[in-house]
Amino acid sequence: MNIFGGVYRDRKVLVTGHTGFKGSWLTLWLKELGADVLGYALEPPTNPSLFDTLGLEERITHVVGDIRDEARLLAVFKDFQPEFVFHLAAQPLVRLSYREPRLTYEINVIGTVNVFESVRKTDSVRVVVNVTSDKCYENREWVYGYRETDRLGGYDPYSSSKGCAELVTSAYRNSYFNPEHYGKTHNVALASVRAGNVIGGGDWGEDRLIPDCIKALYEKRPIVIRYPDSTRPWQHVLDPLYGYLLLGWYLYRCGAALGEAWNFGPNDDDVKPVSWIAERMTEMWTNGGGWVVDGRSHPHEAYYLKLDCSKTKSKLGWHPKWNLAQSLEKTVEWYRAFFNDDDIVSLTIDQINSHVNTVTDVGGMTKG
Ligand SMILES: NC(=O)c1ccc[n+]([C@@H]2O[C@H](COP(=O)([O-])OP(=O)(O)OC[C@H]3O[C@@H](n4cnc5c(N)ncnc54)[C@H](O)[C@@H]3O)[C@@H](O)[C@H]2O)c1
Repeated sequence: MNIFGGVYRDRKVLVTGHTGFKGSWLTLWLKELGADVLGYALEPPTNPSLFDTLGLEERITHVVGDIRDEARLLAVFKDFQPEFVFHLAAQPLVRLSYREPRLTYEINVIGTVNVFESVRKTDSVRVVVNVTSDKCYENREWVYGYRETDRLGGYDPYSSSKGCAELVTSAYRNSYFNPEHYGKTHNVALASVRAGNVIGGGDWGEDRLIPDCIKALYEKRPIVIRYPDSTRPWQHVLDPLYGYLLLGWYLYRCGAALGEAWNFGPNDDDVKPVSWIAERMTEMWTNGGGWVVDGRSHPHEAYYLKLDCSKTKSKLGWHPKWNLAQSLEKTVEWYRAFFNDDDIVSLTIDQINSHVNTVTDVGGMTKG
Protein backbone atom coordinates (compact mmCIF):
# COMPACT_ATOMS: atom_id res chain seq x y z
CA MET A 1 0.00 0.00 0.00
CA ASN A 2 1.80 3.12 -1.18
CA ILE A 3 -0.11 6.05 0.23
CA PHE A 4 0.79 8.79 2.73
CA GLY A 5 3.98 9.28 0.72
CA GLY A 6 5.25 5.91 1.96
CA VAL A 7 6.17 7.70 5.19
CA TYR A 8 5.19 4.84 7.50
CA ARG A 9 7.21 2.13 5.75
CA ASP A 10 9.81 0.71 8.19
CA ARG A 11 9.14 3.54 10.65
CA LYS A 12 8.72 2.90 14.35
CA VAL A 13 5.21 3.79 15.38
CA LEU A 14 3.98 3.58 18.97
CA VAL A 15 0.20 3.25 19.34
CA THR A 16 -1.42 3.46 22.77
CA GLY A 17 -4.83 1.80 23.05
CA HIS A 18 -3.98 -0.65 20.25
CA THR A 19 -6.14 -3.39 21.80
CA GLY A 20 -9.32 -1.30 21.44
CA PHE A 21 -11.68 -0.83 18.52
CA LYS A 22 -10.04 2.15 16.81
CA GLY A 23 -6.56 1.08 17.88
CA SER A 24 -6.94 -2.36 16.26
CA TRP A 25 -8.05 -0.89 12.93
CA LEU A 26 -5.18 1.63 13.08
CA THR A 27 -2.64 -1.04 13.97
CA LEU A 28 -3.70 -3.28 11.11
CA TRP A 29 -3.58 -0.36 8.68
CA LEU A 30 -0.10 0.65 9.88
CA LYS A 31 1.08 -2.94 9.40
CA GLU A 32 -0.31 -2.89 5.85
CA LEU A 33 1.70 0.31 5.33
CA GLY A 34 4.86 -1.49 6.41
CA ALA A 35 5.32 0.18 9.80
CA ASP A 36 7.12 -1.36 12.76
CA VAL A 37 4.38 -1.05 15.39
CA LEU A 38 4.59 -1.23 19.17
CA GLY A 39 1.27 -1.17 20.99
CA TYR A 40 0.91 -0.15 24.65
CA ALA A 41 -2.45 -0.79 26.33
CA LEU A 42 -4.35 -2.96 28.75
CA GLU A 43 -5.64 -6.30 27.54
CA PRO A 44 -8.52 -5.97 25.00
CA PRO A 45 -11.48 -4.31 26.73
CA THR A 46 -14.07 -6.67 25.23
CA ASN A 47 -14.64 -10.32 24.46
CA PRO A 48 -14.75 -10.96 21.55
CA SER A 49 -12.26 -8.28 20.53
CA LEU A 50 -11.14 -7.01 17.16
CA PHE A 51 -7.53 -7.23 18.39
CA ASP A 52 -7.83 -11.00 18.91
CA THR A 53 -9.96 -11.57 15.81
CA LEU A 54 -7.27 -9.94 13.66
CA GLY A 55 -4.46 -11.88 15.35
CA LEU A 56 -2.57 -8.63 15.94
CA GLU A 57 -0.56 -9.91 18.90
CA GLU A 58 1.55 -11.97 16.48
CA ARG A 59 2.14 -9.07 14.08
CA ILE A 60 3.42 -6.32 16.39
CA THR A 61 5.31 -5.72 19.61
CA HIS A 62 2.42 -6.03 22.03
CA VAL A 63 3.00 -4.50 25.46
CA VAL A 64 0.34 -4.88 28.12
CA GLY A 65 0.75 -1.86 30.35
CA ASP A 66 -1.20 0.81 32.17
CA ILE A 67 -0.99 4.34 30.80
CA ARG A 68 -0.98 5.55 34.42
CA ASP A 69 2.31 3.73 35.02
CA GLU A 70 4.65 6.58 34.12
CA ALA A 71 7.91 4.68 34.72
CA ARG A 72 6.86 1.66 32.66
CA LEU A 73 5.62 3.81 29.79
CA LEU A 74 8.87 5.79 29.72
CA ALA A 75 10.94 2.61 29.75
CA VAL A 76 8.97 1.33 26.74
CA PHE A 77 9.51 4.63 24.87
CA LYS A 78 13.24 4.60 25.66
CA ASP A 79 13.59 1.02 24.54
CA PHE A 80 11.54 1.29 21.32
CA GLN A 81 12.63 4.80 20.21
CA PRO A 82 9.48 5.62 18.19
CA GLU A 83 9.31 8.36 15.57
CA PHE A 84 5.49 8.48 15.49
CA VAL A 85 3.13 8.29 18.46
CA PHE A 86 -0.66 7.85 18.13
CA HIS A 87 -2.25 8.17 21.57
CA LEU A 88 -5.64 6.42 21.73
CA ALA A 89 -5.64 4.73 25.15
CA ALA A 90 -8.58 6.01 27.16
CA GLN A 91 -11.58 5.24 29.30
CA PRO A 92 -13.98 6.15 26.44
CA LEU A 93 -17.44 5.55 27.91
CA VAL A 94 -19.73 8.36 29.10
CA ARG A 95 -21.90 6.20 31.35
CA LEU A 96 -18.93 4.49 32.99
CA SER A 97 -17.43 7.93 33.59
CA TYR A 98 -20.46 8.84 35.75
CA ARG A 99 -19.77 5.75 37.88
CA GLU A 100 -15.97 6.08 37.85
CA PRO A 101 -15.05 9.77 37.48
CA ARG A 102 -11.65 9.53 39.20
CA LEU A 103 -10.60 6.55 37.08
CA THR A 104 -11.72 8.39 33.94
CA TYR A 105 -9.69 11.51 34.77
CA GLU A 106 -6.65 9.46 35.80
CA ILE A 107 -6.59 7.52 32.54
CA ASN A 108 -7.65 10.28 30.16
CA VAL A 109 -5.83 13.24 31.69
CA ILE A 110 -2.88 11.93 33.72
CA GLY A 111 -2.42 9.19 31.11
CA THR A 112 -2.04 11.90 28.46
CA VAL A 113 0.45 13.78 30.66
CA ASN A 114 2.44 10.54 30.99
CA VAL A 115 2.55 10.08 27.22
CA PHE A 116 3.80 13.65 26.71
CA GLU A 117 6.40 13.25 29.48
CA SER A 118 7.69 10.15 27.72
CA VAL A 119 7.81 12.07 24.44
CA ARG A 120 9.71 14.89 26.15
CA LYS A 121 12.32 12.42 27.39
CA THR A 122 12.69 10.39 24.18
CA ASP A 123 14.64 12.19 21.46
CA SER A 124 13.51 9.95 18.60
CA VAL A 125 9.90 11.21 18.56
CA ARG A 126 8.97 13.53 15.65
CA VAL A 127 5.17 13.32 15.47
CA VAL A 128 2.49 12.96 18.14
CA VAL A 129 -1.22 12.66 17.31
CA ASN A 130 -3.38 12.82 20.43
CA VAL A 131 -6.86 11.40 19.95
CA THR A 132 -9.44 13.26 22.04
CA SER A 133 -13.12 13.53 21.02
CA ASP A 134 -15.93 15.61 19.53
CA LYS A 135 -17.23 15.69 23.12
CA CYS A 136 -14.34 17.93 24.25
CA TYR A 137 -16.39 21.04 23.37
CA GLU A 138 -18.69 22.84 25.75
CA ASN A 139 -21.96 21.55 24.33
CA ARG A 140 -24.46 24.35 23.73
CA GLU A 141 -26.91 22.09 21.86
CA TRP A 142 -26.23 24.25 18.81
CA VAL A 143 -27.62 23.06 15.49
CA TYR A 144 -24.39 24.05 13.77
CA GLY A 145 -21.03 22.33 14.08
CA TYR A 146 -18.30 23.12 16.62
CA ARG A 147 -15.10 24.62 15.30
CA GLU A 148 -11.63 23.94 16.66
CA THR A 149 -11.60 27.41 18.25
CA ASP A 150 -14.87 26.92 20.16
CA ARG A 151 -14.81 26.74 23.93
CA LEU A 152 -13.79 23.44 25.49
CA GLY A 153 -15.91 21.91 28.23
CA GLY A 154 -17.84 18.72 28.77
CA TYR A 155 -20.96 18.14 30.89
CA ASP A 156 -20.06 14.65 32.10
CA PRO A 157 -16.71 13.37 33.43
CA TYR A 158 -15.77 11.64 30.15
CA SER A 159 -16.42 14.68 27.97
CA SER A 160 -14.73 16.98 30.45
CA SER A 161 -11.71 14.65 30.69
CA LYS A 162 -11.32 14.96 26.91
CA GLY A 163 -11.57 18.76 27.21
CA CYS A 164 -8.84 18.52 29.89
CA ALA A 165 -6.73 16.33 27.58
CA GLU A 166 -7.00 19.08 24.97
CA LEU A 167 -5.83 21.70 27.50
CA VAL A 168 -2.91 19.45 28.47
CA THR A 169 -2.01 19.14 24.78
CA SER A 170 -2.09 22.89 24.34
CA ALA A 171 0.05 23.48 27.47
CA TYR A 172 2.68 20.96 26.37
CA ARG A 173 2.73 22.43 22.88
CA ASN A 174 3.25 25.95 24.25
CA SER A 175 5.76 24.98 26.89
CA TYR A 176 7.85 22.17 25.40
CA PHE A 177 6.95 21.58 21.74
CA ASN A 178 6.37 25.14 20.65
CA PRO A 179 6.14 25.41 16.84
CA GLU A 180 8.27 28.58 16.96
CA HIS A 181 11.16 26.63 18.47
CA TYR A 182 10.77 23.59 16.23
CA GLY A 183 14.15 22.40 14.93
CA LYS A 184 15.97 24.46 17.61
CA THR A 185 15.05 23.30 21.10
CA HIS A 186 12.90 20.29 20.07
CA ASN A 187 11.82 18.25 17.02
CA VAL A 188 8.27 17.33 17.99
CA ALA A 189 5.13 18.20 16.00
CA LEU A 190 2.14 17.72 18.30
CA ALA A 191 -1.50 17.75 17.16
CA SER A 192 -4.84 16.71 18.65
CA VAL A 193 -7.71 15.18 16.71
CA ARG A 194 -11.43 15.29 17.45
CA ALA A 195 -13.60 12.75 15.66
CA GLY A 196 -17.28 11.86 15.89
CA ASN A 197 -19.02 8.63 16.82
CA VAL A 198 -17.24 5.97 14.85
CA ILE A 199 -18.86 2.81 13.56
CA GLY A 200 -17.44 -0.21 11.79
CA GLY A 201 -16.89 -3.91 12.12
CA GLY A 202 -15.34 -5.33 15.27
CA ASP A 203 -16.72 -2.92 17.87
CA TRP A 204 -18.03 -4.93 20.82
CA GLY A 205 -17.96 -2.07 23.36
CA GLU A 206 -20.64 -1.65 26.00
CA ASP A 207 -23.19 1.17 25.72
CA ARG A 208 -22.46 1.68 22.03
CA LEU A 209 -25.20 1.74 19.47
CA ILE A 210 -23.78 -0.52 16.74
CA PRO A 211 -22.66 -3.32 19.11
CA ASP A 212 -26.03 -3.05 20.88
CA CYS A 213 -27.80 -3.32 17.50
CA ILE A 214 -25.70 -6.24 16.31
CA LYS A 215 -26.10 -8.25 19.51
CA ALA A 216 -29.90 -7.71 19.48
CA LEU A 217 -30.24 -8.48 15.78
CA TYR A 218 -28.15 -11.63 16.09
CA GLU A 219 -30.26 -12.80 19.02
CA LYS A 220 -33.47 -11.83 17.14
CA ARG A 221 -34.72 -9.49 19.85
CA PRO A 222 -35.60 -5.79 19.58
CA ILE A 223 -32.77 -3.24 19.81
CA VAL A 224 -33.12 -1.25 23.04
CA ILE A 225 -32.11 2.41 22.71
CA ARG A 226 -31.87 5.09 25.36
CA TYR A 227 -32.10 8.39 23.49
CA PRO A 228 -33.85 7.80 20.13
CA ASP A 229 -33.84 11.49 19.16
CA SER A 230 -30.22 12.31 20.05
CA THR A 231 -28.18 13.09 16.97
CA ARG A 232 -24.52 12.16 16.56
CA PRO A 233 -21.89 12.69 13.86
CA TRP A 234 -21.71 9.06 12.69
CA GLN A 235 -18.77 8.03 10.53
CA HIS A 236 -16.94 4.88 9.53
CA VAL A 237 -13.85 4.31 11.67
CA LEU A 238 -11.65 4.35 8.56
CA ASP A 239 -12.55 7.97 7.79
CA PRO A 240 -10.99 9.57 10.90
CA LEU A 241 -8.14 7.02 10.87
CA TYR A 242 -7.38 8.07 7.31
CA GLY A 243 -7.28 11.63 8.64
CA TYR A 244 -4.95 10.78 11.54
CA LEU A 245 -2.52 9.00 9.19
CA LEU A 246 -2.68 11.85 6.69
CA LEU A 247 -2.02 14.37 9.45
CA GLY A 248 0.86 12.25 10.78
CA TRP A 249 2.45 12.29 7.33
CA TYR A 250 2.04 16.07 6.97
CA LEU A 251 3.43 16.69 10.45
CA TYR A 252 6.45 14.58 9.60
CA ARG A 253 6.93 16.37 6.31
CA CYS A 254 6.11 19.98 7.34
CA GLY A 255 7.13 19.92 11.00
CA ALA A 256 5.19 21.74 13.68
CA ALA A 257 3.38 24.17 11.34
CA LEU A 258 0.27 21.95 11.43
CA GLY A 259 0.63 21.17 15.13
CA GLU A 260 -2.83 22.21 16.33
CA ALA A 261 -6.32 20.79 16.88
CA TRP A 262 -8.24 19.20 13.97
CA ASN A 263 -11.86 18.08 13.62
CA PHE A 264 -12.56 14.91 11.62
CA GLY A 265 -16.32 14.51 11.34
CA PRO A 266 -18.82 13.35 8.72
CA ASN A 267 -20.67 15.57 6.28
CA ASP A 268 -23.77 17.29 7.64
CA ASP A 269 -26.16 14.85 5.95
CA ASP A 270 -24.74 12.04 8.07
CA VAL A 271 -25.51 13.63 11.42
CA LYS A 272 -28.55 11.47 12.21
CA PRO A 273 -30.69 10.52 15.20
CA VAL A 274 -30.01 7.27 17.04
CA SER A 275 -33.46 5.94 16.00
CA TRP A 276 -32.54 6.42 12.31
CA ILE A 277 -29.51 4.16 12.72
CA ALA A 278 -31.51 1.53 14.63
CA GLU A 279 -34.16 1.60 11.89
CA ARG A 280 -31.58 1.19 9.10
CA MET A 281 -29.79 -1.61 10.92
CA THR A 282 -33.08 -3.46 11.36
CA GLU A 283 -33.83 -3.10 7.63
CA MET A 284 -30.38 -4.25 6.56
CA TRP A 285 -30.29 -7.28 8.84
CA THR A 286 -32.93 -9.68 7.56
CA ASN A 287 -35.31 -10.86 10.30
CA GLY A 288 -34.44 -7.86 12.48
CA GLY A 289 -36.71 -7.47 15.49
CA GLY A 290 -37.13 -3.68 15.32
CA TRP A 291 -36.27 -1.33 18.18
CA VAL A 292 -37.78 -0.13 21.43
CA VAL A 293 -37.00 2.73 23.79
CA ASP A 294 -35.53 2.02 27.21
CA GLY A 295 -37.93 4.21 29.20
CA ARG A 296 -35.91 4.22 32.44
CA SER A 297 -34.13 7.41 33.46
CA HIS A 298 -30.51 7.74 32.36
CA PRO A 299 -27.68 10.16 33.10
CA HIS A 300 -27.49 13.24 30.91
CA GLU A 301 -25.96 12.86 27.46
CA ALA A 302 -25.67 15.56 24.81
CA TYR A 303 -28.73 15.81 22.61
CA TYR A 304 -27.22 17.48 19.56
CA LEU A 305 -23.60 17.23 18.47
CA LYS A 306 -21.95 18.12 15.19
CA LEU A 307 -18.43 19.07 14.05
CA ASP A 308 -17.46 21.78 11.60
CA CYS A 309 -14.57 20.33 9.57
CA SER A 310 -14.04 23.26 7.21
CA LYS A 311 -10.47 23.84 8.43
CA THR A 312 -9.48 20.19 8.05
CA LYS A 313 -11.02 20.01 4.59
CA SER A 314 -9.40 23.14 3.29
CA LYS A 315 -5.95 22.86 4.93
CA LEU A 316 -5.38 19.10 4.93
CA GLY A 317 -7.54 18.25 1.90
CA TRP A 318 -9.22 15.54 3.98
CA HIS A 319 -12.85 14.63 3.22
CA PRO A 320 -14.98 11.76 4.48
CA LYS A 321 -14.82 9.01 1.85
CA TRP A 322 -17.80 6.91 2.92
CA ASN A 323 -21.21 8.37 3.61
CA LEU A 324 -23.39 6.91 6.33
CA ALA A 325 -25.18 4.48 4.00
CA GLN A 326 -21.85 3.07 2.79
CA SER A 327 -20.50 2.99 6.34
CA LEU A 328 -23.48 0.98 7.56
CA GLU A 329 -23.16 -1.40 4.60
CA LYS A 330 -19.49 -2.04 5.38
CA THR A 331 -20.32 -2.49 9.04
CA VAL A 332 -23.06 -5.03 8.42
CA GLU A 333 -20.85 -6.82 5.87
CA TRP A 334 -18.16 -7.19 8.55
CA TYR A 335 -20.46 -8.59 11.26
CA ARG A 336 -22.16 -10.99 8.85
CA ALA A 337 -18.75 -12.33 7.86
CA PHE A 338 -17.81 -12.64 11.53
CA PHE A 339 -20.88 -14.72 12.35
CA ASN A 340 -20.34 -16.83 9.20
CA ASP A 341 -16.76 -17.61 10.31
CA ASP A 342 -15.40 -16.08 7.09
CA ASP A 343 -11.78 -14.94 6.74
CA ILE A 344 -12.08 -11.74 8.76
CA VAL A 345 -8.47 -10.63 8.41
CA SER A 346 -8.76 -10.64 4.61
CA LEU A 347 -12.13 -8.92 4.72
CA THR A 348 -10.84 -6.21 7.07
CA ILE A 349 -7.83 -5.58 4.82
CA ASP A 350 -10.17 -5.52 1.80
CA GLN A 351 -12.26 -2.86 3.52
CA ILE A 352 -9.14 -0.76 4.18
CA ASN A 353 -8.11 -1.09 0.52
CA SER A 354 -11.61 -0.31 -0.66
CA HIS A 355 -11.61 2.83 1.51
CA VAL A 356 -8.22 3.91 0.17
CA ASN A 357 -9.43 3.41 -3.40
CA THR A 358 -12.72 5.25 -2.95
CA VAL A 359 -12.70 8.42 -4.97
CA THR A 360 -14.60 11.23 -3.27
CA ASP A 361 -16.48 13.78 -5.23
CA VAL A 362 -15.72 17.07 -3.51
CA GLY A 363 -17.82 19.81 -5.04
CA GLY A 364 -16.75 18.88 -8.56
CA MET A 365 -13.15 18.02 -7.63
CA THR A 366 -12.24 14.36 -7.26
CA LYS A 367 -9.97 13.20 -4.50
CA GLY A 368 -8.41 9.77 -4.20
N1 LIG B 1 -15.39 5.05 19.52
C1 LIG B 1 -15.79 6.29 19.32
O1 LIG B 1 -16.90 6.54 18.79
C2 LIG B 1 -14.90 7.44 19.70
C3 LIG B 1 -15.34 8.75 19.40
C4 LIG B 1 -14.51 9.84 19.73
C5 LIG B 1 -13.30 9.60 20.35
N2 LIG B 1 -12.91 8.32 20.65
C6 LIG B 1 -11.60 8.14 21.28
O2 LIG B 1 -10.82 7.24 20.50
C7 LIG B 1 -9.96 6.50 21.35
C8 LIG B 1 -10.14 5.01 21.11
O3 LIG B 1 -11.50 4.67 21.39
P1 LIG B 1 -12.08 3.21 21.14
O4 LIG B 1 -13.46 3.38 20.66
O5 LIG B 1 -11.14 2.43 20.34
O6 LIG B 1 -12.12 2.65 22.65
P2 LIG B 1 -11.86 1.17 23.19
O7 LIG B 1 -12.52 1.09 24.54
O8 LIG B 1 -12.25 0.16 22.18
O9 LIG B 1 -10.28 1.11 23.39
C9 LIG B 1 -9.65 1.78 24.46
C10 LIG B 1 -8.19 1.37 24.49
O10 LIG B 1 -7.58 2.05 25.60
C11 LIG B 1 -6.93 1.08 26.41
N3 LIG B 1 -6.91 1.50 27.80
C12 LIG B 1 -7.96 1.80 28.60
N4 LIG B 1 -7.51 2.10 29.84
C13 LIG B 1 -6.15 2.00 29.79
C14 LIG B 1 -5.12 2.17 30.74
N5 LIG B 1 -5.39 2.54 32.01
N6 LIG B 1 -3.85 1.98 30.36
C15 LIG B 1 -3.55 1.60 29.08
N7 LIG B 1 -4.49 1.41 28.15
C16 LIG B 1 -5.78 1.60 28.51
C17 LIG B 1 -7.72 -0.21 26.22
O11 LIG B 1 -6.94 -1.34 26.61
C18 LIG B 1 -7.98 -0.13 24.72
O12 LIG B 1 -6.84 -0.55 24.03
C19 LIG B 1 -10.27 6.95 22.78
O13 LIG B 1 -9.37 7.96 23.15
C20 LIG B 1 -11.67 7.51 22.66
O14 LIG B 1 -11.94 8.44 23.67
C21 LIG B 1 -13.68 7.24 20.34
